[in-house]
Amino acid sequence: PQITYIEHDGTEHKVTAQNGQSVMQAAVNNDIEAIVAECGGACSCATCHCYIQEEWFEKTGPVDDMERSLLDFVPSPEPNSRLSCQITITDDLDGLVVRLPESQY
Ligand code: FES
Repeated sequence: PQITYIEHDGTEHKVTAQNGQSVMQAAVNNDIEAIVAECGGACSCATCHCYIQEEWFEKTGPVDDMERSLLDFVPSPEPNSRLSCQITITDDLDGLVVRLPESQY
């Protein structure tokens, strides 16, 4: 599936991801530095914050309690904030657009 990451300054990265990867892993594998992912996907660092475009939000699946509580600590949270390590890529997400925050800290 193809995922487009848009950095805060508008730089776009279109990447081809593998099913079963997380949106965080696909970013890290493609050297997208706006995703820091300090904890490596354990849902404990909140440095893989991203924004999901409205039309995709439901398709990315539910936000569990742990993710929700971490999202309280990210800079500039928005209603469409997610932690990218908690979104698993499937064919349903082909074409997903993910916006990245200015900073993860
Ligand atoms: Fe640490 Fe997502 S990579 S919470």
